[in-house]
Amino acid sequence: KVIHHHKFVVESSPHSRLCRTKEILTVNGEFPGPTLKARRGDKMIIEVYNKATYNITIHWHGLKQERNPWSDGPEYITQCPIQPGKKFTYRVDLSVEEGTVWWHAHNGWARATVHGAIIVYPMLGSEYPFPKPHAEFPIILGEWWKKNVMEIPGKANLTGGEPLISDAYTINGQPGYFYPCSKKGSYKMMVEQGKRYLLRIINAIMDESMFFAIVEHELTLVGKDGFYMKPFTTDYLMITPGQSMDVLLEANQSPGNYFIAARAYADAVGAGFDKTIVTAFLQYQGSYHSSRSPLPNLPPYNRTQAATDFNKQFRSLASENHPAKVPLVVDTHLLYTLSVNLLNCSTEKPCKGPFGKRFASSVNNISFITPKIDILQAYYYGIEGVFEEDFPRKPPNKFNYTSDNLPENLLTPSFGTKVLVLEYNCSVELIFQGTNVLASDNHPVHLHGYSFYVVGRGFGNFNPKKDPLNYNLVDPSQETTVGVPKNGWVAIRFWADNPGVWLLHCHIERHLTWGMSMVFIVKNGATPRSRIVRPPHDLPTC
Ligand code: C2O
Ligand code: CU
Repeated sequence: KVIHHHKFVVESSPHSRLCRTKEILTVNGEFPGPTLKARRGDKMIIEVYNKATYNITIHWHGLKQERNPWSDGPEYITQCPIQPGKKFTYRVDLSVEEGTVWWHAHNGWARATVHGAIIVYPMLGSEYPFPKPHAEFPIILGEWWKKNVMEIPGKANLTGGEPLISDAYTINGQPGYFYPCSKKGSYKMMVEQGKRYLLRIINAIMDESMFFAIVEHELTLVGKDGFYMKPFTTDYLMITPGQSMDVLLEANQSPGNYFIAARAYADAVGAGFDKTIVTAFLQYQGSYHSSRSPLPNLPPYNRTQAATDFNKQFRSLASENHPAKVPLVVDTHLLYTLSVNLLNCSTEKPCKGPFGKRFASSVNNISFITPKIDILQAYYYGIEGVFEEDFPRKPPNKFNYTSDNLPENLLTPSFGTKVLVLEYNCSVELIFQGTNVLASDNHPVHLHGYSFYVVGRGFGNFNPKKDPLNYNLVDPSQETTVGVPKNGWVAIRFWADNPGVWLLHCHIERHLTWGMSMVFIVKNGATPRSRIVRPPHDLPTC
């Protein structure tokens, strides 16, 4: 096995965007952070030194980390954060995924600037299941914030009234043509006419899904979230926070300078967001005139249908080399509602949210409270009083989830640090049901420690009698972050074959901050190879 050693120094460093220089939290001074490359089957050992003044943890988004939740990263879920001046060594296993995944900070809002790509190539001697690209480009969709992002969650929890809107979207760290002082720095992707390229696109934006397109160039999607897909060709992508997509591009147009562009897909009533189009350039070699091309045809920002039309094309390869191991019989049925809620203010919790209230978010009407020591340690060592094992398998009350006039009493969630315990290797079907409790939204749900098959999706309320008849159990896409459509539902299936403590949450950062998360504890199996590995000796303490 090849082992790659990396050193991550988390430190504040100066960067200039939007006509001003400011200090941001970075890894090794870079924004976006370093790209890690390896082959499937390799391992990575990353020593993380915290030279910042904030706590830090790093999550390896989209990697299974089989039996090793200790290196998964979410603060107070699988570890205590690395405190300033301290270090922790993460062990990352790449035996399952192939394609593009990523890493990001998983404490507070640090991931706004602390993130980067992970590229997993096929094993030596094996090939891509698609025509070989001439070269590849990581494309990281990110943001620039004038405010200090580390201060946002505190404020957001207090008031809920904070608009939480960034000052620019970025492509590989650059805002591009339509933002002040940004034209010159625009990211340029240099290509040769007649060649094929692989784009590894990651949405590292905190709160917005994005439509993405390149003028006069079709995109062929070949992978998502570290799993290959049956290729399909499209004019635009819709990529939610947390997702990564592998896309082939043929440089088959007349040499020139073409806009690469993305704009938000945001369809929630009342939620503010930046409506500017973020750009970069696709530049053919030998064509250096900088005439401005037209913009690509991006769907309008509220076109939910365009998002759905794109998503429903996903199919896994389901081939001999990349089989789909979809559970056909289910023993654990779960139904989770995803809601945005409103809370009354009190003197202890003053607030400035809408109608004199503040926002909350919930899964099955429970808004997650982050504990003071991590759930993994508490579970492993039997420390009591940290979490409760009674997370409900279905919503506490049945209602018409997507109705336009829901009763006011649904607005208020309950609170708790609740987990659901699963038997090792049980087969799970989990329905994510969007609700219109306060306002409906597209919720990109991410599950740590697992990938899952998306066997069905639809608008309205999930119908347990009719909808399963239309499931795709043959070649459903394998994903780790799935967009649950606004006012709709998604059905996923997976084998609970990875023992540990695993976070499930909406990857829209403000929803996560407001409590849209829950935790699975998957028990050990009977054999030594189906048990959580031993904790590392350098585990941070709280
Ligand atoms: Cu991309 Cu819990 O994270
Ligand atoms: Cu959400």
